Amino acid sequence: MPVPREWRADVARVLITPQQLAKRVRQLSESITKDFAGRELVVVALLNGTVLFLADLIRHLSVPLRLDFIGVSSYGAGTVAGELVFTKELRLDVQGRDVLLVDDILDTGRTMARVRSMLEKLQPRRLRTCVLLDKPARRVETIDADYIGFTIPDLFVVGYGLDFGERYRNLADIFAVDDLKALRADPDALVPLLTAS
Ligand code: IMP
Ligand code: MG
Repeated sequence: MPVPREWRADVARVLITPQQLAKRVRQLSESITKDFAGRELVVVALLNGTVLFLADLIRHLSVPLRLDFIGVSSYGAGTVAGELVFTKELRLDVQGRDVLLVDDILDTGRTMARVRSMLEKLQPRRLRTCVLLDKPARRVETIDADYIGFTIPDLFVVGYGLDFGERYRNLADIFAVDDLKALRADPDALVPLLTAS
């Protein structure tokens, strides 16, 4: 049943603006550029949530880099974490190389922990991790990222690459979903935000 129009304003609110994102991502790029000066990077990004973040991040990295992706999905159609499913394997050789693993959000940490140990077996010279968002309240694995854009409370977020059931990745802001029940009942509830942003 669709959520009535007058409720929709309460379903989600802006958490991080495009201006804040641009500024912080640029700072991350600068730190990474400094830390990897004189080296060549292999950037390994996890699909699909990193797309917008990754594009902005690597645009401002001024070290030589190669880019590859690992396809991994931990969520089914909604917001409940399930089994990890690999949908694309790494193609570039990372042995003896400097690797930056990029993900959209560090939540329970299961994805990052699993992918990191997989990469470690390939014997990179150095392996660093970078996430746009960190939700430490939900951590199950003992894992931290080396570069973190924003630390956020235990909220479900969408936009700037992050999805709800594969939707809303194209929102320019990051929105916090205040009423997940309403969104589950009507996955179109946030469509008005697409035209507003
Ligand atoms: P983890 O394995 O629990 O750390 O989850 C990591 C993955 O879950 C991320 O790469 C996201 O794709 C997804 N995820 C976790 N929290 C959120 C959220 O608030 N919004 C959208 N996706 C999320
Ligand atoms: Mg996702």
